[in-house]
Amino acid sequence: MKVTLSVLKADVGSIGGHTKPSERMLEAVRIRVRKALAQGLLLDAFVSHTGDDIAIISSHTRGPGNTDVHQFAWQAFLDGTAVAQKYGLYGAGQDLLVDAPSGNLRGAGPAVAEIEFEHNPVKTNKVRPAESFMVLAADKCGPGAYNLPLFLGFADPMYCAGLMLPKLIKGFTFRIIDMDNTKGDSIIELNAPEDYYKIAILLRDNERFGIDSIVSRTDGEVAASISAQRMHNIAGTYTGKDDPVAIVRNQGIFPAPEELTSPFTKAHYVGGDARGSHVMPLMPVPLNTAVTGMYCLPLVSCIGFSVAADGKFSDSYIDFFDNPAWDEVRRKAQEKGMAMRDQGWSGAAMLPYHELEYSGFRDVITGLVDRFVIAGANGAKANGAKPIPAATRRAAPKK
Ligand code: 13P
Ligand code: MG
Ligand code: MG
Repeated sequence: MKVTLSVLKADVGSIGGHTKPSERMLEAVRIRVRKALAQGLLLDAFVSHTGDDIAIISSHTRGPGNTDVHQFAWQAFLDGTAVAQKYGLYGAGQDLLVDAPSGNLRGAGPAVAEIEFEHNPVKTNKVRPAESFMVLAADKCGPGAYNLPLFLGFADPMYCAGLMLPKLIKGFTFRIIDMDNTKGDSIIELNAPEDYYKIAILLRDNERFGIDSIVSRTDGEVAASISAQRMHNIAGTYTGKDDPVAIVRNQGIFPAPEELTSPFTKAHYVGGDARGSHVMPLMPVPLNTAVTGMYCLPLVSCIGFSVAADGKFSDSYIDFFDNPAWDEVRRKAQEKGMAMRDQGWSGAAMLPYHELEYSGFRDVITGLVDRFVIAGANGAKANGAKPIPAATRRAAPKK
């Protein structure tokens, strides 16, 4: 049968600031999930949080972008919002940017990642004798946070030796989205390994370009799907960070979990954290971690599931970053974060102007830009401002 994995995520409120959703909120979402399971809409589902974002991880047979599945998730997030409102939590309904989406949730605020595949997990199945996948969920950062680690995991044998094996050696197609294009999903397909440098030159710009999906060049199977959309492009203003989710299938024809998680040992710097306007390292954390660290250090969780023949998530889940080995990376991230915070607002510590322009920082900068005065003959003014008195002006350089 064809199975779809849908991960739908939203920040609809959190306790004591933008930290984590309350237990009551999570329970409200779970009640809606149980109803959807009882009605047969979903085959299986799992609810968790990373920072202040609630993720619904589900399997079903209705295909990506299905209205019923997306409307169920919207309703679940509304239920969570109602609880957040009742208890006076921060940012109730923050990511629900429209009143009522008519169909699917793309462009309505919640993050969406989906993959559909033929599911027949038997030993004789050459492509996928067993289905296993991971879900990445990040808080306090944008979708570009996955650019570097997923590129390394799917295109660089220094991180994924499996790429040198016959099953993977043809490489992967990177479908890269221009997140600044608001007319629709604007995608370019580039192939690793031959387009390696071209992929890198786009993915270096985490704020504009993101990986939408990754496809195996051996058999056309979709390996990964990322919620690569920018909320400020939808809302036209800063409403919170995008906090992306990703589904990544692993093993067999895809990289193994250790190959996919090893790039996260970098704790690389990403845009986001405090007021969505700074640059801080991405810290791998166990599932259900709250954001209480210094300056909203961006967090990423990574859990794994296997999928039984009936589409159910078999035998619980595995939490990849909940392991003492990752304590070392967490320490490194904290040190890198403190080093960056040492320089406060200066230069690389904050995002460039074009990112800030969606937040209130833009208004203050614009107000000041309006007061600039062109120094020169007769105190010519810029933007209607009063001329600077001659005595306080810098002397013009002698010719
Ligand atoms: P969230 O998008 O996680 O709510 O974070 C918003 C923010 O600006 C943090 O300072
Ligand atoms: Mg929030
Ligand atoms: Mg968040």
